[in-house]
Amino acid sequence: MTTATAQAFSNIAFIKYWGNRDNELRLPVNGSISMNLDGLFSRTTVSFQPSLPFDELIINGREVVGKGLERVSFILDLIREKAGIKMNAEVMSENNFPSGAGIASSAAAFAALALAGSKAAGLDLSERELSVLARRGSGSASRSIPAGFVEWQVGKDEKDCYAYSIAPADHWNLVDCVAIVSSSHKKTGSTEGHAIAGTSPLQNARVADAPRRLEICRNAILKKDFDAFANIIEHDSDMMHAVMMTSNPPLIYWQSATVEIFHQVREWRASGLPVSYTVDAGANVHVLCLGEYAREVEKRLREVPGVKDVLVAGVGGGARIV
Ligand code: DP6
Repeated sequence: MTTATAQAFSNIAFIKYWGNRDNELRLPVNGSISMNLDGLFSRTTVSFQPSLPFDELIINGREVVGKGLERVSFILDLIREKAGIKMNAEVMSENNFPSGAGIASSAAAFAALALAGSKAAGLDLSERELSVLARRGSGSASRSIPAGFVEWQVGKDEKDCYAYSIAPADHWNLVDCVAIVSSSHKKTGSTEGHAIAGTSPLQNARVADAPRRLEICRNAILKKDFDAFANIIEHDSDMMHAVMMTSNPPLIYWQSATVEIFHQVREWRASGLPVSYTVDAGANVHVLCLGEYAREVEKRLREVPGVKDVLVAGVGGGARIV
């Protein structure tokens, strides 16, 4: 086969990946846990063609050159090397969620690229090998290969650094209500952020404590203990942002509406509504709740000043060929 199309969902991290022990290989300093976001996907077609003089990348109908294309060609090179082929490829990718909405498009995009590209090259990689390959494009993409609730292990080495499912998508009816407070592109992307994480004096403490947080989060998910889950994901998100704010140069991703939502969510939880927040490298707030409360949470979020939109996603499956 020389053409294949794959689809992968984005994911939201509950225990965050922030900082690498090897930036080139994207080997993280700590493990992370996430859930795939049902319905928020990238669909990518890779087609290897002998007549193409260069790789070509088209995202949402627009040709992309420069850094974006280089990052994709880097993954295609790894695939070509494994498959023993030399052809260039045309890559066409669509996201069905607004770009710049603070939903990690790189996670969905590199997971879909790894799967479509390897299939198109005639390779039949295992889930683990696909997770390793997707990781080379974007660390969080390693977690968009397996289904449902996913843990990405630190691993001993390159090949051992992959993500796997800890519970299937139907294990727990969690819903992510993403409060969009800003849709402008962030000034400092994750890749640059990872590279300076070690300049914060708080990073070592955050990393040393990661096994504890991973265990609490993993157990809370497995036991469907929402209270324990809520406390640990807020704590982990706050810790990552403390590192970001104290790195050199400092990164402050929050807007005033971000902080307003933190206060609201904590008040709602104190008054009996099971909700919890987490924030990635952006201003938008992912508000997690049990499925039966999603409508109420969405309604309340829309009333918070500064909230421009709310996207709602349940737990998604793994990357697949379509
Ligand atoms: C804050 O996976 O986007 O969302 O490997 O450089 O592409 P690169 O970084 P990326 O980093 C994600 C950071 C985060 C936390 C997380 O998703 O775990």
